[in-house]
Amino acid sequence: MYNEEISELAEKIKKLKDIPHFIAFEGVEGSGKTTQAKNLGKFLKKIGYKVVTLKDPGTTKLGEKIRKILKSETKIDTIAELFLFLAARRQLVEEIIKPEMRKGKIIISDRFTHSTLAYQGRGRLTIPETLPMLCFIATGGVEPELTIVLDINPEIGLARVKERYQNQTTKEKEDRFEKEDLEFHKRIREYYIELSSYDENVILVDANQDEYEVFKNIIYKLYEFSRSKYGEK
Ligand code: TMP
Repeated sequence: MYNEEISELAEKIKKLKDIPHFIAFEGVEGSGKTTQAKNLGKFLKKIGYKVVTLKDPGTTKLGEKIRKILKSETKIDTIAELFLFLAARRQLVEEIIKPEMRKGKIIISDRFTHSTLAYQGRGRLTIPETLPMLCFIATGGVEPELTIVLDINPEIGLARVKERYQNQTTKEKEDRFEKEDLEFHKRIREYYIELSSYDENVILVDANQDEYEVFKNIIYKLYEFSRSKYGEK
C-alpha cells in the first residue's frame, strides 16, 4: 500500500526507542489536518502502536455539542467563544486523553491549545495577555509533545474549503471562522510560522503539495524529531 520511501521510514521508526505519545496537528483552514491526522493514525497502527485519534473541539459528547454550537450561526461573544473552546478541551483531557495515555496509547489530536492561541489570541485579539494562563487551567499542562503545523497560504486553503462546500451534497455552510476576512487568516498563519521558529517541539510541513507528498514529509519529520529526542534502540 505504501511506497518504498514510506516503508523504509516505517522500518527506521520501528528501530527508535520511542516516538511522541501526544501529537497535535495545527494549521489554517483547508490545510489538510484532518486527513493527515487520520493518515498518521493508520500508519502508526500499522507499525504496531495503539493509537487514539481526536478532534478538538469534539470527540466527547460534550465536545460534540459545543462544536455544533460553535459551527452554528448562534451569536457568540468573543470571550464566551474562548470559554466554549476551553470547556470542550477540558472535557477531552479528562475523559479521553489522560485515561488513554495511561493505557500507553498514542494520542493524535486534530487541533489543540495552539489553535486557541492562534485563533482567539492572534486572530480575534481576545485577552492575549491572560490567554496562556486560561489555556493552562483547561489542560492542567497536558500538552502535545509534538505539534505538526501544516503550512499553506490561507488564500489557497480557503479556496479548498469553498470547493469542498460546492462539491458536497449536504447543506453545510461556511462557519464563523471560515467567513472571517483574509487578514484574520493571515495572522493565524503568521502565529504558526513564528511558533515553529522558536519552539523546537513544533515542526512546519509544507501543505501545498499532494496528499501523499505531505504525508511522506510528516513521517520523515516525525522520524527525525523522534530520533534526535529519544535515540535508537
Ligand atoms: P475544524 O476542526 O474543522 O478545523 O474547525 C474548528 C474551527 O474552530 C476552526 O475554524 C478553528 C477554530 N478553533 C478556534 O478558533 N479555537 C480553538 O481553540 C480551536 C480548537 C479551534
